[in-house]
Amino acid sequence: MPLTAADVEALATELATAHPANIIARAQREYGEALRISFSGAEDVVLIDVASRNNLPFRVFTLDTARLHPQTYRFLDTVRERYHVNIEAYYPQPEAVQQLVVAKGYFSFYIEGHEECCAIRKIEPLRRALADASAYVTGQRKDQSPGTRADIPVVQIDTAFSTPERQLVKFNPLANWSSDKVWQYIREHDVPYNPLHDIGFRSIGCEPCTRATNPGEHEREGRWWWEEATKRECGLHIINLGNDSH
Ligand code: ADX
Ligand code: SF4
Repeated sequence: MPLTAADVEALATELATAHPANIIARAQREYGEALRISFSGAEDVVLIDVASRNNLPFRVFTLDTARLHPQTYRFLDTVRERYHVNIEAYYPQPEAVQQLVVAKGYFSFYIEGHEECCAIRKIEPLRRALADASAYVTGQRKDQSPGTRADIPVVQIDTAFSTPERQLVKFNPLANWSSDKVWQYIREHDVPYNPLHDIGFRSIGCEPCTRATNPGEHEREGRWWWEEATKRECGLHIINLGNDSH
């Protein structure tokens, strides 16, 4: 039985102050094989560490846009080996990438904005990654983006990626953790991390659309910096913008 909006709201209230480990355990027990962890190869590795310590089964996917940093590819394998988990990589449709690159080159997003490229390299693959899932877990946090993530709950119905046949529940167990808290966890539990973090990268996405940030800059300044702050969501989390039709 799909959860109603009221059920999910009640669950979000119940879990609002829970430790991420308990939120993820709850999701693991509730959804089992139908749950996925959405892993970007950044500090969201905490989700995998926690899921693995819960001693409950979990599945992980990543959206390999083919534009990630070499360090991120190496880190994905580090995580795979450390946690003995297959990272289910999803790729963009080759024909769509080919059409885009032939028509507009490799860096059209600097001129036209990131939407078209993200739609091909991230959003369409995400739909496939979630096709047989009932719920998924993301590493989104409120403090990552005051403009677009300040209100994210620890659990919500993903109205953008649900289909008429299948409701999709989205868990954001780190929603209420600060960046400092995440890094404290990483250090205390000796969690492997992406080496880009050691050279000034705080938020990590695709190589051409990510840069290191200076002290005093918000971490989101390192993403799609040539665009307005309110547009710095690639569509994976479009419901944060209160617009789920795309
Ligand atoms: S993004 O929308 O701006 O790219 P961000 O990098 O902040 O997202 O990451 C937030 C969460 O979105 C990650 O913790 C992860 O759950 C999910 N995510 C982002 N990029 C990917 C990716 N390439 N593959 C899988 N999950 C991703
Ligand atoms: Fe393309 Fe940049 Fe979006 Fe990656 S983040 S899919 S390179 S526009």
